[in-house]
Amino acid sequence: MSKPRLFSGIQPSSDSLHLGNYLGALVQWRAMQNDYDAFFCIVDLHALTNAAHDPKSLPAATRGLAAQYLACGIEPGKSTLYVQSHVPAHTELTWILNTITGFGEASRMTQFKDKSQRFGTENQTVGLFDYPVLMAADILLYQADVVPVGDDQTQHVELTRNLAERFNSRFGEVFTVPKLQTPEEGARIYDLQEPTSKMSKSAASDAGLIWLLDEPSVTRKKIMRAVTDTGSEVRFDRGEKPGVSNLLEIYTAITGQTVAAAEAEFAGRGYGDFKRAVADAVVAELEPVRTRTLELLDDPAELDRLLAVGAEHAAEVAAGTLKAVYDAVGLLPRR
Ligand code: TRP
Repeated sequence: MSKPRLFSGIQPSSDSLHLGNYLGALVQWRAMQNDYDAFFCIVDLHALTNAAHDPKSLPAATRGLAAQYLACGIEPGKSTLYVQSHVPAHTELTWILNTITGFGEASRMTQFKDKSQRFGTENQTVGLFDYPVLMAADILLYQADVVPVGDDQTQHVELTRNLAERFNSRFGEVFTVPKLQTPEEGARIYDLQEPTSKMSKSAASDAGLIWLLDEPSVTRKKIMRAVTDTGSEVRFDRGEKPGVSNLLEIYTAITGQTVAAAEAEFAGRGYGDFKRAVADAVVAELEPVRTRTLELLDDPAELDRLLAVGAEHAAEVAAGTLKAVYDAVGLLPRR
C-alpha cells in the first residue's frame, strides 16, 4: 500500500529558523518522512504578502531555508523539497478556489482580521486576504492526507477542508479532504524573555529567540539570560513558573527525558546549574545543524539543483490534480 501523503510549508521570511520551528515542526517532520510521502514546500509566494517583504533578500532567504530543511535532516531521497513559485499550479488552483470561497468566510480568517484591526483594512492587500486560499491550494494540489502545522494555522486547515468538501460536492470527488495534525506534546516553545508568548520571529526583542544560525556563544548567552521565576526550584508549572517550565520543555524535548526525570536531576541545584545544562543541550543539538547549513550554503548551485529535482516531481503531481480540477469545473481543454 502506498504511504499517506503529508504536506507542510514554511515561509522564507527570515534568514534563520528558530528553536520553536525546530522542536515544534522540523524534528517531527524529520521523523514523519519515513512513514509518509512528504512534500515540504518553501512558500515564497506567501512571503510576498508580508509588509516587510524585500526583493533583495528573498532569494537568499529561500536558499537559506532550503539549506536549513536539509541540515535538519529532511532527505531529498525520501521527501520532496521544493519552492512554491517553481510550480505554477499553486497560483492556478488558487484562482479556481477563489471562485468557491465566500467573501465573508475569507474575512473571518484571523490573520487578515488581526492585521486589519491593528493597521486598518484600507492598508491590507488582496494578496493577504487571499493568503488562506493559496494555502488551501498548496495542500489540495497534492491530495495531502495530513497537514502538520502549529496551532496558529488550524483555522487555515479548517478552511482547506471546507473548500475541499464544497468543491467535491459541487463538481465531483476530486480532492482528498486533509486531516489536521495537531502539534505533539512537548514541542511548544515560548519566548525566553516573555515566556507566556510563543517563540516567534515577530517578537519585539531578539533576546528571547534562539535562531538556528546563531553562534553557539550567542545561544548560550541568551539561555543564561532567560527570564526565570521567583523561588529557586526547578519545577514544571506553566501558571506559576512559565520561564522555568519553558526551559524544562526545551531541555526534555532535546534530551528525550521525562519532565519528572529532569526535575529530579536538578533538585536542590538552583537556576544557574539548570540553565548551564539547558545551554549545553541546545548548543550540542544546534551546532551541527548550523555547521551543516553553512556548508550547504557554500554550494548554491547544488542547492538549486536539489530544488529543481523537487520542483519537477511536485509539478508532475500537481499537474494531475489541476487537470482533474479544470475538467470538473468545465474548462475546455486546449488541443
Ligand atoms: N501559513 C503557513 C505558516 O505561516 C505556511 C504555509 C503555507 C503552509 N502553505 C502551507 C503550512 C501549506 C502548511 C501547509 O506557517
